[in-house]
Order: sequence, then structure tokens, then C-alpha cells
Amino acid sequence: MPDFVTDADGRVPIAVFISGRGSNFAALAEAADDAAFPARIVLCLSDKPDAKGLDIARQRGIAVATPTRADYESRDAFDAAMEAEVVAAGAQLICLAGFMRILGRAFVERWEGRMLNIHPSLLPAYRGLDTHARALADGAREHGVTVHLVTPGLDEGPILAQARVPVLADDTAETLAARVLAEEHTLYPDALAAYVRGAEPRPQG
Ligand code: GAR
Repeated sequence: MPDFVTDADGRVPIAVFISGRGSNFAALAEAADDAAFPARIVLCLSDKPDAKGLDIARQRGIAVATPTRADYESRDAFDAAMEAEVVAAGAQLICLAGFMRILGRAFVERWEGRMLNIHPSLLPAYRGLDTHARALADGAREHGVTVHLVTPGLDEGPILAQARVPVLADDTAETLAARVLAEEHTLYPDALAAYVRGAEPRPQG
């Protein structure tokens, strides 16, 4: 695990990347309201300027950045713009929280060990999109969520924490997603706190 530079009160400054609703961002922000939480949110970055989660950040007085892909000629240039926001905010670690854009390899490699993601499945099962519908289509009995370190392979990084939920007979993708999301909101702050305090990730099976 990298040595994180903390701010004056011993907390790691973090940036949270979102693309939409921002309920996981809100859960992280609520956890960070506790002065004993070992991280502090210094930036909420969204690649969608109309993301609902930005309102939560603004209400909380958290700095926001909204670079948009269309303003840059290449993905690398866009990644560099996002990274410049993170660096300018003084963030030491990035939490992807419903950030629905794939970051380029160079960006990911520069932040390896310092970038976390939350993914709504029990990885290595159901990497990618539509995890809840795919679990239902397979007749899975159990589903869940994973917090993991981000590596260049999509959703392939080492695991920090997982939470499991049952799949019920009458579940739809929406009811299953809601059951998983409730777990996400405690798992992500817990996993983040454990990681900056020194918890070791484990490889995906
Ligand atoms: C969450 O369920 C998160 O796990 C998922 O998007 C949702 C965002 O909700 N992330 C992914 O699917 C990443 N591949 P939120 O904006 O309310 O946190």
C-alpha cells in the first residue's frame, strides 16, 4: 500500500469521481463528516455536468469539477484534464463511485494503489455492465458488491471488501439493485477507511 500524505489533521484527502445519482458519494461524504474517519473529500468530479450527485457536493460545500469529454480531442487529453483537477485539489487517492467511463491505461497506472472502485457484483463474477440483470438471467442465488483497487483490466483489480445479498424469487433487476445498493453505502466507507489504515487487498479468484 502506498504511503499517503495526510493533511494537518491526519486525514487523507480524496477525490470522488461520479457520473450520476451520487448516492455512494453521499455515503462517503456522510462517513467523512466524522472527524475520526481517516479520509476527507476535497473534490467531487463528474464527467456529466448535470449529474445529480453534484448537487449533493454543492450543498455540502465540497469543490466540484465537471470536465467533459467533448471538450478534449483525445481520451488521453481528457484523462490529463481530470488528473489536473485531482492534483490541483491536493487529493492523494481517488474513489470511483458510479463513474461510468473507462480511464486510460496511463492514468490508471499512475494511480495504481491509489484508486478504488465500487462494482455491483461479487467479482470476479459479472465484470462490466448490467450486473443485476445478468445475475438474475443466470439464476444466481446470491449477488452483491465489491470494493476493489483499480488496475488496467476492467473490474479486475484486487479486492478490498465484498458484501453479499440473497437473490429472491420475485426479484427484478431494480429490486435486486436496491438491495445491493443498501450494502454499497456501508461497504464503501468501511473499505476505504480500512485501506488507508493499512488493510491489504487480496487477488480476485
Ligand atoms: C452503484 O450501484 C455502483 O456500484 C455502480 O453504479 C451505481 C452508482 O450509483 N457502479 C458501476 O456499475 C461501475 N461499473 P450512485 O451514483 O448512486 O453511487
